[in-house]
Amino acid sequence: MKMKKASLLILLTLFSYSAFCQKDNLLVPEPVKFIQKTGNFQLSTDTRIVIPDDNTEIKKVAGLFNDQLVALCGIRLESSSVKDETIVEFLLNKQPDNELGDEGYFLNISSKKITISANKPAGLLYGSETLLQMISPVLADSIVNIACAEITDYPRFGWRGLMLDVSRHFFTKDEVKRFIDQMVKYKYNVFHWHLTDNNGWRVEIKSYPKLTSVGAWRAKRTGLYTGYETAEPNESKTDGGFYTQDDIREVVQYAADRFVTIVPEVDVPGHSSALLAAYPEYSCLGTPTYVYEGGRITDIGDNELCVGNEKVYEMLDKVFGEIASLFPGEYIHMGGDEASRRYWAECPKCQKLMKEEGIEDVSALQSYFSSRVDKIIRSKNKKMIGWDEIIEGGLVPDATVMSWRGIEGGITAASTGHHAVMSPTTYCYLDYLQGEKNIERVSFGALRAKRVFEFEPVPEGVDPSFILGGQGNVWTEFIPNYRRVEYMTWPRGLALSEVLWSPNVNRDWDEFVPRMEAQFPRFDQAEVNYAPSIYDPAIEMISGDNGKKQIVFTLEIKGLDVYYTFDHTFPDNFSLKYQNEPIEIPKGASEIWAITYRDGKPLGRLLVITLDELEKRM
Ligand code: ACM
Ligand code: ZN
Repeated sequence: MKMKKASLLILLTLFSYSAFCQKDNLLVPEPVKFIQKTGNFQLSTDTRIVIPDDNTEIKKVAGLFNDQLVALCGIRLESSSVKDETIVEFLLNKQPDNELGDEGYFLNISSKKITISANKPAGLLYGSETLLQMISPVLADSIVNIACAEITDYPRFGWRGLMLDVSRHFFTKDEVKRFIDQMVKYKYNVFHWHLTDNNGWRVEIKSYPKLTSVGAWRAKRTGLYTGYETAEPNESKTDGGFYTQDDIREVVQYAADRFVTIVPEVDVPGHSSALLAAYPEYSCLGTPTYVYEGGRITDIGDNELCVGNEKVYEMLDKVFGEIASLFPGEYIHMGGDEASRRYWAECPKCQKLMKEEGIEDVSALQSYFSSRVDKIIRSKNKKMIGWDEIIEGGLVPDATVMSWRGIEGGITAASTGHHAVMSPTTYCYLDYLQGEKNIERVSFGALRAKRVFEFEPVPEGVDPSFILGGQGNVWTEFIPNYRRVEYMTWPRGLALSEVLWSPNVNRDWDEFVPRMEAQFPRFDQAEVNYAPSIYDPAIEMISGDNGKKQIVFTLEIKGLDVYYTFDHTFPDNFSLKYQNEPIEIPKGASEIWAITYRDGKPLGRLLVITLDELEKRM
C-alpha cells in the first residue's frame, strides 16, 4: 500500500484514539442525522450478508458493497438467509418512508447486527457507502470494529453532478469507470460526459463515421497546452481516441448499476471544430479546418457551424438520434456555449435565414438554433439542457439551463419558470487551480477547496424548486493525464459533495476539515490521487503602512505553522516561523521559500517563489 506522509499521519492519529474503530462522525458528505451509540459491531469473515428474497437488484448493491469492503479491509462477506448470526442486512421498506425519498437510507449499527433500510435500491447503495466510510482503511487480520450508530440520511438535491471533459484530453473507458467509482463513494449521481469539442469528437456516430475517424485525432503534442503548436502540413494525427457505441453502452450500464445517470454532451454550435474537421461542408466558411491540438484557448474557433444550413439540422437529427438511443437518461446536453457568432454575421446562408425568419441579431439566431435543437432532442423523447448562453436571444420554453458564468443564468432561468443546474466558475470549476500557482501551474483561474465548500446552489430569493442541484466541472485543457484528473477533482469534490447532499445548516469549514482529511487515507489505499493543496499557504506581497513591501501568508486550514527562509535554503521547523503578521523583506532577498508543519512534522510542499513574481501579482 502506497501511503503519502500526510495521510499516514492522519491515519496514525485516527488509530491512536480509536484502536481500529472509527468513533465520531468522519463522514463525507455529512449525513442528515447521526447518533453515536455505545459499543461496536465486530465485522469478520463470519459476518453474513442478508438480502430480501434473493432480490437481484439488491444483490448487485450488496455485491458492490462487498467488492469495496475487500478493497478496504480485505474481508469478503458470504451471503446467508439465516438471521441469527452477526449480519449486515439490506432491507427494502415495505411501506415507503417519506422522509427518505428515493435515495435516502436508514443505517443502524448495533453490536449484533447492521441494518441498511431504504425505499429504493439507490438508498441501500448510499447506506452501504456510508457504512464503508465507518470502516478504517486497513487490511484486517480477522476482525474490524465498527462503532455503533444510527444514521438517517437523504440528499438535499437530486442533481449532484461531476462533469469530465474527454475532448481536450481523452480518457479511456476504464478511467471513466474509475471516475464514476469515486463519484459514487461520495454520493454523486450525475456524470456529465463532455464528449465533443474543438479538440476531439469522442463518440462513435454510425451515420457520420468521419466524426471519429477524422474528428477524434490530432497531432501529438506534449508540454503546456497553451503552447501546443499547430500541426505541420501532412503531419500524422496519432493523438486522441474515442468510445465505440459498445464502449458507451458498457459505461452507461456500469453507471446505471451504481445509480449514476449519464448526461451526454454534444457541444454545438460553438466548440465544434472537430466536427467541422470531419465535415467542413457544415461550417459557415466551408473551408477545411482541423482538430485543434490545443493552444487556441482565447480565440474559440476560426470557423463555425453554419446555423443557416438546413443540412446541419438533418445531420444533428441523426447525431442526437444515435445519442438518445445510447443514453437512457432523460437529459441531453447540447452545449451552446461560446459560439463564434461573428461568422454567422458574414455568412450568406445565415444571413438569408435571418431575413426569412425576421431574426434581428446573431444572439437571436443562436436562440433560433437552440429551439431547432430542442425540437430534435424532444423528438427523441429527451429533455434539452445547455450552458447559460442559450438564454441569450430568448430561452426555449422547456430548456434547462446549466449556469456557469456565475449564478445569474440560473436566476434568470428560475425566474422564468425554467429548471437550472448551478455550476458557476466561482465555486464549481475544478479545472481552476486550488493552491499556489507556482507548483499547481497553469489554468484559467483559482478556486480553493474552502471556497467550494462555501457554495450555495440556491441564490437568495430564488424558488428552490427550480434549482435541480449543482455540478463540478473538470475541463481538461490543462489536464493531460488521468492522475491529474483525480488531483483536480479531490478533495474539492468532497466539499462539493457535502454542498449537494447535506442540509445547509450550521455548515462549518473547520468542522468539515477533519472529515475531509479522514478521506485521504482512503484515497491512498484506493490509489486515487488528490491534491494536498489545503496544507500549502497562499503567499502574497502587500504594501505595508510604511510603503515598504511585505509578505503575508494565508492558511486555508487551522493548526498549521509556516516556516520560511529568504536565503535560498530549505526551511524547516528551525527556520523563521510565521507569526501571523506581515513579514518585512530583508535587504538583498530575491526569493522566499516556505513550508508548513503540523505538530512538529512537515506537511505541506516546499514553495519557492521569487519576490519579483509576488510583486507582479500585486
Ligand atoms: C464553459 O465553461 N465554456 C461552459
Ligand atoms: Zn452560416
